[in-house]
Amino acid sequence: MALLFICDGEDPDIWETALRAEIPDLDMRAGRIGITDETEIDIALAWQPPRGLMASLPNLKAILSLGAGVEHILRDPELPAGVPIARLIDPGLQTGMVEFITMEVLSHHRRATEYRAQQRAGEWKLLRQTLSRDRRIGILGLGHLGAACGTTLTRFGFPVSGWARSEKDIPGIESHTGEDGLFAMLEHTDILVCLLPLTPDTEDILDATTLGALPRGAVLINAARGKHIVDDDLLDALDSGQLSAATLDVYREEPLAADHPFWTHPKITMFPHAAAWTLPESAAPVIAENICRAADGRDLIGQIDIRRAY
Ligand code: NDP
Ligand code: OXD
Repeated sequence: MALLFICDGEDPDIWETALRAEIPDLDMRAGRIGITDETEIDIALAWQPPRGLMASLPNLKAILSLGAGVEHILRDPELPAGVPIARLIDPGLQTGMVEFITMEVLSHHRRATEYRAQQRAGEWKLLRQTLSRDRRIGILGLGHLGAACGTTLTRFGFPVSGWARSEKDIPGIESHTGEDGLFAMLEHTDILVCLLPLTPDTEDILDATTLGALPRGAVLINAARGKHIVDDDLLDALDSGQLSAATLDVYREEPLAADHPFWTHPKITMFPHAAAWTLPESAAPVIAENICRAADGRDLIGQIDIRRAY
């Protein structure tokens, strides 16, 4: 059984060591080149695989994403039909995202950016504090990551609501579904967190209409995908005061072009797609379990519904 590892920027040797600790006889081939015989590859572990690569592997039994998102795999128009695809459900990714969202929610809640600007200006001024119970959080996407972030935020006393395709029963989190549910949530959201997968249904979801439905002065945190946001609509909302601030971790194009207005916008805090990383020490056991499942023809953990694209 051979695994093809495709991920620019990741050291395949580190992954091979981590995966071999779980599956000692694993035959891992790395890189886009060097596959002497494409028929030998059974499983692909991939991040942003090149178009057509999967179709060139005739005995492929599964495609495993090296991240939670799968849109980077599904964008390949030549993807072989019928090969199961799994997103990564990794405790390390979840912890990283909970840390990131909590950090940014608290940072906006406690006005950290304004205090830092005051320090730079040599200004000593107290800014009014708001009780957490009076700061309403809305989360788009209540999956593996959104639900964990929401649950953590309830522990600070924030009222938390979430929007998903299906109704949720998560202690302390008000569940919303459908378009009506989306707007009902937005109207009562002071800090909006986006943790949706990127699909044809969610692309451009953060536009003038949805951002305009938030209370004036609301904050946006997007750690999902850049294509959830219509960039010009976000800039208009920030410039008009409809939004008071935004934290962005993801962009329509990455790295973000040097002349993009987000870089210098005074109300935007940027991170370079750094919210949560896939770390081998946490993800390898989960991936190894899926390699074994794929080899046995069993359902994968995190197997996506191709019709929904997540
Ligand atoms: P999940 O698949 O576990 O959760 C997705 C959630 O979105 C589910 O609650 C789902 O609803 C909901 N959803 C999907 N489509 C719709 C829709 N059309 N309408 C309403 N709700 C919808 O994904 P994860 O939580 O694991 O990850 C979410 C995303 O976070 C990833 O796809 C990735 O893009 C991003 N991410 C970003 C990282 C970063 O570093 N910036 C790191 C890791 C992930 P339901 O529960 O009903 O199915
Ligand atoms: C992911 C990501 O999808 O890091 O895991 O963006």
